[in-house]
Amino acid sequence: MATTMTALVFVATFLVILVQGTHHCNVPSRFWCDDEEIATSCGVLQQCQEFEWTETNKKVEFVLYYESLCPDCKDFINGMLYPHYANLSSIMNLTLVPYGNALERKVGDKWVFQCQHGEQECIGNVIETCAIAIVKDITKYFPFIHCMEQSELNPEEAAKKCSTSFPVPIADILKCSKSEYGNKLEHEMAVKTDALQPPHKYVPWVTVNGVHTAAIESEAEKDIVKLVCDTYKGPKPPVCK
Ligand SMILES: *[C@@H]1O[C@H](CO)[C@@H](O)[C@H](O)[C@H]1NC(C)=O
Ligand SMILES: *[C@@H]1O[C@H](CO)[C@@H](O)[C@H](O)[C@H]1NC(C)=O
Repeated sequence: MATTMTALVFVATFLVILVQGTHHCNVPSRFWCDDEEIATSCGVLQQCQEFEWTETNKKVEFVLYYESLCPDCKDFINGMLYPHYANLSSIMNLTLVPYGNALERKVGDKWVFQCQHGEQECIGNVIETCAIAIVKDITKYFPFIHCMEQSELNPEEAAKKCSTSFPVPIADILKCSKSEYGNKLEHEMAVKTDALQPPHKYVPWVTVNGVHTAAIESEAEKDIVKLVCDTYKGPKPPVCK
């Protein structure tokens, strides 16, 4: 009897090792779908992909509402968002909304904007808005916008200078910024900003998966990697470890 039991345990152990391959699956089953490496070592990669990571591995929707010349926005972009963006981009869908605390009113068939830091800020906002619309690929326009946000020059000069280091179709972007099209695009940024619930009270203002709270805001400013990694439900990439 005892010998049979020992044999059974032995065979069972052997089968478990066989199924798991050479890696060690040494964590409780509730952690098996935590990341791809563990899932692979526990022999459940396919099951995790099929049942656990389908809805949950959607990228974290991170939206930054800001205005081009506000010092706190510059600090957040230059000191936190941009440096970590590359490492987070596989799990974070970043959207930039350059409008912030501006106001708009319609005069004739044009929108007239009034910006917190004056006329130059409105010019910066619409240049960045046009860059987003024309360049489309955030991996190309974000370095350009980041460069503008680091600059002490006025926005048009900054844009020209930055376009030499971060190639974007600068002539098209500047033309757009002075056109009816650019005016309409900036109005769309105003509509997005004014649709915020709760309404924004300051900038920078972030939403994560559509939600803004004071806690989310302060964590974004303190440690965006932790915030995005904690929010992401799929298998954690190396940046989250
Ligand atoms: C991005 O990730 C790499 C590798 O994980 C790491 O070496 C680098 O420091 C990270 N970048 C930042 C800004 O944390
Ligand atoms: C990223 O967000 C934008 C809206 O801000 C959306 O149009 C786009 O489909 C999203 N992309 C992904 C990959 O989720």
